[in-house]
Amino acid sequence: MLQGVPPDLYLEGNGLTHRSYNFFIKESNITRLCREKTILTVNGQFPGPAIYARRGDVVVVNVYNQGHTNITLHWHGVNQPRSPWWDGPEYITQCPIQPGNNFTYRIIFSEEEGTLWWHAHTAMDRATVHGAIIIRPRHGTAYPFKKPHKEIPIILGEWWNDDVGKVMADALSTGSDFQPSDANTINGQPGDLLPCSNDSTFRLPVKHGETYMLRIINAALTNGFFFAIAGHCLTVVSSDGSYTKPFTTDYIFIESGQTMTVLLKARRRGHSNARYYVAVRPLATNPAAVLDNSTATAVLEYIDAPSANRANFPTLPSINDSSAAAAYTAQLRSLASKEHPANVPRRVDEHMLVTVAVNEISCAPNEAPCKGPHGNRFASSLNNISFEAPHRDILGAYYRSVVGDVAKTDFPDNPPLSFNFTADNLPPEIALTARGTRVKFLAYGTVVEVVFQGTTILGGDSHPMHLHGFSFYVVGRGIGNFDRHHDPAKYNLVDPPYQNTVSVAKNGWTAIRFRAVNPGVWFMHCHFERHMIWGMETVFIVKNGKRRDAKFLFVGVTKIGYLRKI
Ligand code: C2O
Ligand code: CU
Repeated sequence: MLQGVPPDLYLEGNGLTHRSYNFFIKESNITRLCREKTILTVNGQFPGPAIYARRGDVVVVNVYNQGHTNITLHWHGVNQPRSPWWDGPEYITQCPIQPGNNFTYRIIFSEEEGTLWWHAHTAMDRATVHGAIIIRPRHGTAYPFKKPHKEIPIILGEWWNDDVGKVMADALSTGSDFQPSDANTINGQPGDLLPCSNDSTFRLPVKHGETYMLRIINAALTNGFFFAIAGHCLTVVSSDGSYTKPFTTDYIFIESGQTMTVLLKARRRGHSNARYYVAVRPLATNPAAVLDNSTATAVLEYIDAPSANRANFPTLPSINDSSAAAAYTAQLRSLASKEHPANVPRRVDEHMLVTVAVNEISCAPNEAPCKGPHGNRFASSLNNISFEAPHRDILGAYYRSVVGDVAKTDFPDNPPLSFNFTADNLPPEIALTARGTRVKFLAYGTVVEVVFQGTTILGGDSHPMHLHGFSFYVVGRGIGNFDRHHDPAKYNLVDPPYQNTVSVAKNGWTAIRFRAVNPGVWFMHCHFERHMIWGMETVFIVKNGKRRDAKFLFVGVTKIGYLRKI
């Protein structure tokens, strides 16, 4: 029997608080867009409950699956140092929690401070199973800006009239694209531009002169969003749980998976203006895809204003304005202060160039005809490998030294075929991919640079790439094909943003760097749900180092893939 590490090992920092939460996964009935529907929730809440912590805390979440399907939860952006057991992606770090079963997660906070979020990491469950994670500074330390009067989580999402399980099953049975959502949402509400949504529009009560911290989270499955508030500027102070150099902007752009923490100074113009619209609209980068182009709204309401007149509407960039998105993103920089330094690796041990693509995969004779492109089924890939999850978790197999039973360990450092990735008209055969379960081993401490290369295969799309277990520095980005001779000279190695999710333009590239100092098994994938489901993902296995604190913590594995509670 494998020996578990005593629980008090987790108390190494001392003074850690162990707040605990009970999350009951259950079905609830809810009405949106004039119809009632059953959705999966945590504790009957949609969006789910927020988790509060301070930097360095450990939080325990007891999950009881009272639903009818398997589920896991993931703490998006929490590095879980040396503790992949509680990271959550199904069949990567654990087998899913079956109906009637329970599982205890430990969320181990370390360097994260700011706004993160949690969500289901099974099928399309995260459409309704998600919530905020709010990490405040340690006791006795302060925000690197004046403390706001109040903080308000703003969770952006998408709503389907149909059951999301059915949406997924329909798409996968025919190989077609997923049916788009029926509304975009702010804190679960489409807002008053959508039918039957007038009374339930999310309202943000404010007082003139006060400063509000909006913790904006993009929990959507398909959409990156523009966000703006009429008559008000926003000051961005943090993103993905890491402080940024503050900058002021009329609108923000937030990719699926990202968070942006902004300060809003409530300053009412004129005497009677009491209401201002908050508006959210997606960015469409793939002209071929059918998109939910609805605008979600909320209302900022001055509770101290004399009268409630009609609200003004903000100016948002237009729906296909990818340069507005890029211009916003280019402003993000690490705070890089004495208290919150940027520690950007200058030397790289392993260079990877990873193409990201939506593809097609041949339709098997027994499933023909498929309804994807060219009579094939939709697929997606990294370096032309469309990842297929095993039926047992990779972490458990790795732990028992039989990772070869579930995966090949030869994920390539370069695309198998070199071509003009961002050409206007690529030959159709380039779209074909094949399935595989191929992962990459990294020695402890390796500095990795991954250049994600967008492609125009099948027209192309942008992709928010997300890495579990690490935040990374976004050292560079550009349009066209990455040029390894000239582009690195333009990198920002001083104060690049420190993110866990980064957008890769369809006709461009994005370079990230991280130090592999977190031993474990870590998923990397596109945060657009259907791209992930189609296989745009892979796994890093970071080996243990020599020192005791460079090894991942062992918990007892009592059954294959199941963890003993400690
Ligand atoms: Cu927010 Cu693996 O995901
Ligand atoms: Cu994608």
